[in-house]
Amino acid sequence: MYEEEFQAVHFPVMWQDVIRTAQENIPDSKVLRFLDGTGGEAGHVLKFAEAYPDSEILFLDRDPTMIERAWSRLGDRKNIKSLNCNYSELAQTDLEDLSWGDGFDGILLDLGISTYHILESGRGFSFKGTENFDMRLDTNLNRKQVTAAEIVNTYPSKELERIFYEYGEERWTKKIVERLVERRRTNPIESNNDFSKLVESTIPRKFWPPKTHPATRVFQALRIEVNQEFQHLKKALAELPKFLKPDGIFQIISFHSLEDRIVKHSLKDLVMSNKEFSFIHKKPLLPSEDEMKLNPASRSAKLRAIQRSADTKNKRY
Ligand SMILES: C[S@@+](CC[C@H](N)C(=O)[O-])C[C@H]1O[C@@H](n2cnc3c(N)ncnc32)[C@H](O)[C@@H]1O
Repeated sequence: MYEEEFQAVHFPVMWQDVIRTAQENIPDSKVLRFLDGTGGEAGHVLKFAEAYPDSEILFLDRDPTMIERAWSRLGDRKNIKSLNCNYSELAQTDLEDLSWGDGFDGILLDLGISTYHILESGRGFSFKGTENFDMRLDTNLNRKQVTAAEIVNTYPSKELERIFYEYGEERWTKKIVERLVERRRTNPIESNNDFSKLVESTIPRKFWPPKTHPATRVFQALRIEVNQEFQHLKKALAELPKFLKPDGIFQIISFHSLEDRIVKHSLKDLVMSNKEFSFIHKKPLLPSEDEMKLNPASRSAKLRAIQRSADTKNKRY
């Protein structure tokens, strides 16, 4: 069985650690304001709402479908608001209009995609079934974004090699790209299935990873390129700390080494260059054995967190 077959519903990864980190570090003397930049199915939003019933919560998602799915779980709650936007665009959003201009006591990013995207969206994130090879998170058609199919069918081979090496660390990159370029001359890739079969037939079976599908790495690479995930993440890591109130904390859950490297370096740079910020944990927190058993998708999760000092004058720096 491959990884994706284990995940039936989206389980809010490391939520106990996220809530404990908030409870141990944010003084709980007033109505707190939280921002969940990756609302998804509102798993973490609901945990925050339970732990802090008087709090105000704003959640974002770049995928409008996720905003709808979140609200179908949240019901009618006056203290929760949502915005369909990219977490990297918050600085360009007029929060004053939403009366959130003073910032947040806690900000969370739970990176990546949701179980819904893999199992139900029909956008080609999965290796199973035959779906359009799309992979876009923003289904808002005003945004011009290339699809996975456009990338594999039109990008020059050097560019494809860069994407598969850099974003997938795939050692069979050269062979996969050779096969792909040969195939697309006469028979372009149309579905997720077309592409995963091409990868399966390129990597000899004895080199397939034991627990994951052989196309996992190149699918990850394409998803990152389609959604420009690292560009948005870097921008958000530079901008979101500015929205923290004094004593506010910023928590980020990453799921693979490339993502974690970006998070670790950005936070380190911030803490080294600006005395207002410090790390909460010496090392990243990892999921417990129990959580990993219950939700194998959490296996690779890492939680890093920083805090803004209490002396901050509550201004964006
Ligand atoms: C791992 S899921 C979050 C799950 C959520 N914490 C929960 O417990 O239900 C990540 C979500 O972030 C969204 N997302 C990914 N990149 C984003 C970005 N740059 N800006 C806003 N939302 C993003 C995805 O659409 C997805 O719904």
